[in-house]
Amino acid sequence: MEQLGAPLGDLALDRALFDRAVQVRNRTVGDRVHLRGLIELSNRCRKNCLYCGIRCGNGAVERYELTDRQVLAAAQYAWQAGYGSVVIQAGERTDEAFIGRIERLLHAIKEMSQGELGITLSLGEQTLETYHRWFETGAHRYLLRIESSDPTLYARLHPADHSYHERRECLTRLRETGYQVGTGVMIGLPFQTIETLADDLLFFQQLDIDMCGMGPYIEFPGTPLADFPSAFTRPERLQLALRMIALLRLLMPDLNIASTTALHALHPKGRELGIAAGANVMMPNLTPDTVRGNYRLYDNKPLQDMDLSGFNVALDNTWGDSRHFAARKAAASSSDASDK
Ligand code: 5AD
Ligand code: SF4
Repeated sequence: MEQLGAPLGDLALDRALFDRAVQVRNRTVGDRVHLRGLIELSNRCRKNCLYCGIRCGNGAVERYELTDRQVLAAAQYAWQAGYGSVVIQAGERTDEAFIGRIERLLHAIKEMSQGELGITLSLGEQTLETYHRWFETGAHRYLLRIESSDPTLYARLHPADHSYHERRECLTRLRETGYQVGTGVMIGLPFQTIETLADDLLFFQQLDIDMCGMGPYIEFPGTPLADFPSAFTRPERLQLALRMIALLRLLMPDLNIASTTALHALHPKGRELGIAAGANVMMPNLTPDTVRGNYRLYDNKPLQDMDLSGFNVALDNTWGDSRHFAARKAAASSSDASDK
């Protein structure tokens, strides 16, 4: 873990670390970059996280909801382009109208793509029953960031009625339900230190997660957290985020690790740098342009799409499932067999 705390200007050391991570990635999960088409369904959210641009307390943001037709058109684009899977992301809602709508959309996407398109959900904290309903309807992966694995830091990033314990429970529920589970953290938060980041990596390992998405924290003007300084400049956060990706690749070689859009917000080639540091998943944004500007979690969210030239991109509609998940499943069923 020494590398994480190495002087932030030490580029030669970083290069050696990133090259090593890429080697390990290529040997373990291959050199293909998997794409997930990102569909930002709605920016309505019942939560009020202190760092987020679409927190319910932000009255300045125009709220939107994609129509079913828009969602299906985006999913169809992903399918026809050979992406293999989509991620449906939205602010958190737990009302029956929302839960039922997600079910209907899952049905419709499965039907439209003849069952071919994989579907990942990123819809926040839900009950075990809701997670079950969506899983039964065809979602097979779920992303829920822990934001920080340090309960004390988590409490400083959220209002008093948001619970670290509940978030942690949700990750357990997702695992129990049968999803491939992804989590992640923000990097360069106020009050965050190199030690808490190192602990985040150990937390991922302890939870035995299948997927990870981490990105630099970027102040959103007007949010409560934007008043507090980070210990790291923006270039340092970018560098730390790349180190976190590389170190996680070395720690958990068969994980699916995303190169996130927040990297791109800090550097025009941010996502490409993420792949070159050991990530193997990218999430091109398929949200229609008309509403995309309203889905701003942080300032400076990139609106343009990425340059995929130079990568071995999977465009054959494979799901690109987490190898880590497959390995865990195989280990579980062989120990079941030997129990008998
Ligand atoms: N900077 C970086 N990432 C952010 N997110 C929310 N607000 C910010 C911000 N200001 C991330 C959180 C959340 C994900 C959907 O977006 O990690 O889980
Ligand atoms: Fe809502 Fe997620 Fe933003 Fe929190 S981080 S306010 S849960 S969209």
